[in-house]
Amino acid sequence: MNRLFFAIWPDAGSVERLRATAEALAPRVGGRPVPRDNLHVTLAFLGDLDDARAAAAAAVPLESTAFALALDRLGSFRRARVAWAGCTRAPPALLELESRLSARLRAEGFALEERPFTPHVTLLRKIERALPAEAVEVIGWEVKEVTLVQSRAGRYGIVKRWVLD
Ligand code: 2AM
Repeated sequence: MNRLFFAIWPDAGSVERLRATAEALAPRVGGRPVPRDNLHVTLAFLGDLDDARAAAAAAVPLESTAFALALDRLGSFRRARVAWAGCTRAPPALLELESRLSARLRAEGFALEERPFTPHVTLLRKIERALPAEAVEVIGWEVKEVTLVQSRAGRYGIVKRWVLD
């Protein structure tokens, strides 16, 4: 089986700042900082797919223009026990990209999460205390590609890339 999701990756500078933010937060909320190589924004989580469905996911057409993403707040999801960096107002281009991708995937028969899209980079897992939303100095980068990612034993591998013009 292939555990797959669509994701956006921060640029190198943003990775460092996200990791530093995670390390600074750890004493406040507990939990483990996400390794640098795993820091990402999930666009759509597909779950475990057989090879044929994985191939169908990789064949999904995806067209969008590149856009700027600025993360400006921190918060946590209590049930998932993660702390994250997200945006006060998600860029319209990101929301449009996610809604077009999800609509396309649903039309192809993929079962996606029902909950509303809350773009975020998970910074810490297994936190012990909730983090009320707070502002953070902007961590931003230009989103120039979307990837289909395979998760295997906590490691992520890129299956396919779509370049955004
Ligand atoms: P998270 O970062 O908020 O935990 C790979 O697991 C990625 O898919 C993670 O970024 C995770 O979000 C996201 N994801 C979304 N729904 C998920 C689910 N039901 N199970 C596991 N991961 C999920």
